[in-house]
Amino acid sequence: MNNSALLSFLCLFALLHQSLAASPQFNVIQFGAKPDGRTDSTSAFLAAWKQACSSTRGVTLYVPKGRFLTRSMLFKGPCRNSAIFIRIDGTLVAPSDIWAIGNNPNWIEFQYVNGVTISGGVLDGKGAPLWSCKLAGRKCPTGATVLTNYSSTNLFFVFFSGKQTLGFSFCNNVLVSGVTSLNSQMFHVVINFCRNVKLQGVRISAPGNSPNTDGIHIQMSTGVTVVNTKVATGDDCVSIGPGAANLRIENFACGPGHGISIGSLGKNVNEPGVQNVTVKSTTFTGTTNGLRIKSWGKPSNGFARNILFQHATMNNVQNPIFIDQRYCPDRNCPDTASGVRVSDVTYQDIHGTSATQVAVNFDCSKRNPCKGIRLDNVRLTYNSKPAVASCANADGTTIGLVQPGSCL
Ligand SMILES: *[C@@H]1O[C@H](CO)[C@@H](O)[C@H](O)[C@H]1NC(C)=O
Ligand SMILES: *[C@@H]1O[C@H](CO)[C@@H](O)[C@H](O)[C@H]1NC(C)=O
Repeated sequence: MNNSALLSFLCLFALLHQSLAASPQFNVIQFGAKPDGRTDSTSAFLAAWKQACSSTRGVTLYVPKGRFLTRSMLFKGPCRNSAIFIRIDGTLVAPSDIWAIGNNPNWIEFQYVNGVTISGGVLDGKGAPLWSCKLAGRKCPTGATVLTNYSSTNLFFVFFSGKQTLGFSFCNNVLVSGVTSLNSQMFHVVINFCRNVKLQGVRISAPGNSPNTDGIHIQMSTGVTVVNTKVATGDDCVSIGPGAANLRIENFACGPGHGISIGSLGKNVNEPGVQNVTVKSTTFTGTTNGLRIKSWGKPSNGFARNILFQHATMNNVQNPIFIDQRYCPDRNCPDTASGVRVSDVTYQDIHGTSATQVAVNFDCSKRNPCKGIRLDNVRLTYNSKPAVASCANADGTTIGLVQPGSCL
């Protein structure tokens, strides 16, 4: 074999070897991360991300066992591959100094990434100091205010500036599997302007009295699926905001918490609606709400339509079935009639116990009455007796046994 033949043989071998080898793996330890729970590993994680994102092939970013302290991290795309697999065996820990994340948007945020999986691991948001600051009414870093912005083209922009634990904005093809989020400072998981996102086997946990710790918030996104997930927290287990479409939640447990909430909708005049939502096989335990649709009592062109709530068990829930179109915490609602149109909402096989007498409450807008409400086999009791239903401006039908008797 002459030299050039040898060279081409070696090249061929290297090529073959490369294509047969497992995708490259980057361990955050190689980038200087320390699993001691004390050393700031932020820059190591960001350096590992930079490599993973610039790889032209799918890659694995590996976080081994141990506790990794990190400040806010923005994992930004677009990346040169669409198969980044982040495997976490350890725990990421946020700084407990409430000003360390400060007024930064999020703790862990992905933006403009197409094709990312996060598998396993614990995200420990260290929320307690911020919650006590808020509960004591002291001056705290600003919370998850939703900044709404309308550009000249009337496009709808919503950005969060808060301290959610895990955020995805403008991302497609995302899988979050077997991840645990503990004690988030604010919202645990936020999905904003994304397509095709799946959350499975996710565990979310914070105390029932922790302020603004919503479990999963979804808005301006289509094709989001949440399955086999449990949320115990101080605010909504799931909140579904404007522009959510084609959303499915299945095998989901909530409690403590404020239930699964579509809304608040209609805070703004121009607002995209929520449509095609299926919430199936859910259990609510000791929650303030079960299945809720909530809109501001102000003018809006928003809507919620084609919603199916199917197979829900209520255990001692304060408002098991609730449409609340008179939400106005800031008391700045001119005539309290919501512009949001609620239509085609089905409640099928909903049963269990209510913690208050009114188990079914449709408090719809007098300007836009709810249309196409269907109650199909609903059985809710209060103190072992049938509960009560209350309706205002609600129109629809009942099928099968419905207790409390329908007021539609
Ligand atoms: C709203 O969005 C426009 C266009 O993106 C931007 O130029 C403007 O600065 C934004 N305004 C605010 C208050 O964020
Ligand atoms: C909602 O579902 C309907 C009927 O299946 C479909 O025609 C419509 O395109 C869906 N909406 C969105 C925003 O995808």
